[in-house]
Amino acid sequence: MAVAGEPKLIVVADPEALAHAAAERVMARIAANPGRIAICLTGGSSPKKLYQLLGSEAWRDKIPWDRVHWFIGDERFVPESDPLNNMTVARATFLDRNAPAGHIHPIPTAAENPDKSAEAYARKLQAFYGSESLDPARPLFDMVLMGAGPDGHTASLFPGYPAVDETVRWVVGVPKANVAPFVPRVSLTLPPLASCREMLFEIAGHDKQPILTRLLNGETLPAVRARSNGETVWMVDQTALPEGIRGGR
Ligand code: 6PG
Repeated sequence: MAVAGEPKLIVVADPEALAHAAAERVMARIAANPGRIAICLTGGSSPKKLYQLLGSEAWRDKIPWDRVHWFIGDERFVPESDPLNNMTVARATFLDRNAPAGHIHPIPTAAENPDKSAEAYARKLQAFYGSESLDPARPLFDMVLMGAGPDGHTASLFPGYPAVDETVRWVVGVPKANVAPFVPRVSLTLPPLASCREMLFEIAGHDKQPILTRLLNGETLPAVRARSNGETVWMVDQTALPEGIRGGR
């Protein structure tokens, strides 16, 4: 069993294998909780195959939809009708056809500005959790999905931005993104993201090799600082691995 906080590296062959292995882990976390389940999704291109799989005939019947709640770790501050909206992608790919509407919890981008949106989402998370302070013995999420950007950001926590060091607020507005798409963002901060049984990073493709090399070298980038209080897994495919590294550690 992994030591709490220390990432476990799992290497798979390719993006298809990665989606399958990630789906197995999601199902294992669901199976481990007989009560209400909370899953925090992510945006970008990395989780799309996983979302397709979870919505496919082979998998969707195994999910107890009436017990699972779906949140999102960060959002682009664009209307829900915009294809850049992370939750819109997740909804269109698998949630709308399967999940009860009241179990889908998007970050509200119709708010006046990203800060207001962040405040509203923090209130929603705290109401769901039943407290304004996180208890290490009672994780907010069963699973948090994450991706890593080319600059080492995760969620919308960009390197060198104050949002990465936030310890009080659960959700913050990020006025300017460090990478495309250059729209304002709203992001969960590290403490609520850490409040989970498992944090699963999906990192695939040769274009991720430079950033994965930096992450494996332990640079203090947001994607390295993001750790679960439970288990943290970096699931990567062969083409993302730095030259000379093959297999797990
Ligand atoms: C977003 C994401 C972001 C993403 C990484 C990786 O809103 O863009 O939540 O943190 O996970 O940028 O993005 P890709 O999966 O597209 O490489």
